Amino acid sequence: MEKKWWKEAVVYQIYPRSFMDSNGDGIGDIQGIISKLDYLKNLGVDVIWLSPVYKSPNDDNGYDISDYQDIMDEFGTLSDWDELIEKMHNRGMKLMMDLVVNHTSDEHQWFIQSRKSKDNPYRDYYIWRPGQNGQEPNNWTSFFSGSAWEYDENTDEYFLHLFSKKQPDLNWENPKVRKEVYDMMTWWLEKGVDGFRMDVINLISKVDGLPSAPGGKRYDWGGEYFMNGPRVHEYLQEMNREVLSKYDIITVGEGPGATTEEAAKYANNENTELNMIFTFEHMDLDSGPGGKWDVKPWKLADLKEVMSKWQKELEGKGWNSLYLNNHDQPRMVSRFGDDQNFREVSAKMLGTFLHTMQGTPYIYQGEEIGMTNVQFESIDDYNDLEIKNMYREKVIEGGEDADQVMQAIYQKARDNARTPMQWDGSEHAGFTTGTPWLKVNPNFIDINTEKALEDPNSIFYYYQKLIKLRKEHEIIVYGTYDLIVPDHEQIYAYTRKLGEEQLLVILNFSSEDAPFTLPEQIAFKEDQLLISNYELDDEQRIDSITLRPYEARVYLLK
Ligand code: NOJ
Repeated sequence: MEKKWWKEAVVYQIYPRSFMDSNGDGIGDIQGIISKLDYLKNLGVDVIWLSPVYKSPNDDNGYDISDYQDIMDEFGTLSDWDELIEKMHNRGMKLMMDLVVNHTSDEHQWFIQSRKSKDNPYRDYYIWRPGQNGQEPNNWTSFFSGSAWEYDENTDEYFLHLFSKKQPDLNWENPKVRKEVYDMMTWWLEKGVDGFRMDVINLISKVDGLPSAPGGKRYDWGGEYFMNGPRVHEYLQEMNREVLSKYDIITVGEGPGATTEEAAKYANNENTELNMIFTFEHMDLDSGPGGKWDVKPWKLADLKEVMSKWQKELEGKGWNSLYLNNHDQPRMVSRFGDDQNFREVSAKMLGTFLHTMQGTPYIYQGEEIGMTNVQFESIDDYNDLEIKNMYREKVIEGGEDADQVMQAIYQKARDNARTPMQWDGSEHAGFTTGTPWLKVNPNFIDINTEKALEDPNSIFYYYQKLIKLRKEHEIIVYGTYDLIVPDHEQIYAYTRKLGEEQLLVILNFSSEDAPFTLPEQIAFKEDQLLISNYELDDEQRIDSITLRPYEARVYLLK
């Protein structure tokens, strides 16, 4: 397997709005990030992925961009950004920017022009269609509820928006659009950025004719007509030739609905497209037939199956990204661990899982101190348009039970991950001296970085150690993965193999003791414990042990 720096790196995601506010306006900013670089360096991360910091009217908190080559007022200026990247590079850290080019904001100059008239030179930058029998051009529903089309009186046509109506989709069929995007990417690369995380990049190619989803519903899921569409690989190969291949950078594409077969193309070893993609199968394990808000308990057997499938099916073909939460997902310790009774150990166990699979690990801000989901009493305390639209559709218009919908919000809402970073026990968790744009999670008194840094046993130091181990043992990066004890109902265990060495990872995913018997075929002469989230007595043999609740152990076998 070819060695690459981005396979050996650990990435830390910053959601700038919620990270650190330097000027008391209640909104995180670039100077705030700069003030925390030493904290991140201390944690040991190599790359920072910055969620969008470009000019934006913030309908979707920066994922609706009105100017790709300038910085959002609340976050600072281009010279703040220059200072950020310089200070990161001085510390040996790399910066990965979010690239949101499936859509722009409706306030982007291109769209302002495009909607002016049918013969405007920018008209074809977007996807415009006439209505069908007085209705939308097709029945696709948007990711954020309702139709994916918005009517524009001015030219009596509809434009496509797979996300909010303030996020019109760009028309990638138009070579001028592609050229604009590549030029803009080159501009950032020349300014020194070290990579891109590409927002919903597998949605950029839509099936010809934009057919309605079958089933006859007024609004329906048309994913098969825009996820991994017919020309997506052609576009990414072009982008690779024109831009990416000229730089030694890290690239990760967000790929909702991507299968392992598709992923092996996006993230192929020949590197003709991207380095890796974010997949979603493991994020869908607690969704019922009704989708994201139809919450059901996830099962360990399914998690094993999905993760093992991605590990094995990309083996030798591509590269995995590893994540358990981000700004779009609930907090991992609340979802896959136990944030009430075993918060610290279960967060460490999940961290062990994240860092010992094959792939590049992504840590989401606050994960390293075990930040949890939040439960605000009122829907008015939430900010995210996805939640607001869903609540309106289900409760206000649809008459569904408000309490039940709030329960789903407590488990799945994106705002769970977006509450301000908890720095200390002072007012607003030390995030701001003003009023935070989104309320702080009330548990900041107990869960904050100041406390974590004072406690040698904290999740923070455990993550620091996991990151360090990755640098010391190639097997953690490059070893091949094999699931063991597949039918165990509490334990997820696997080996990694590289040359003469084996790594043995044993994780108790339950809140009960769990017996573990080492399969006979795992032969070794020596075992060395690399990390564990409990105190261990050295005498314990590893062939037959009992793991305590959420216990994690990693052994190096020789
Ligand atoms: C995926 C991003 O991660 C999410 O936050 C955003 O709302 C959508 N793409 C639309 O850009």
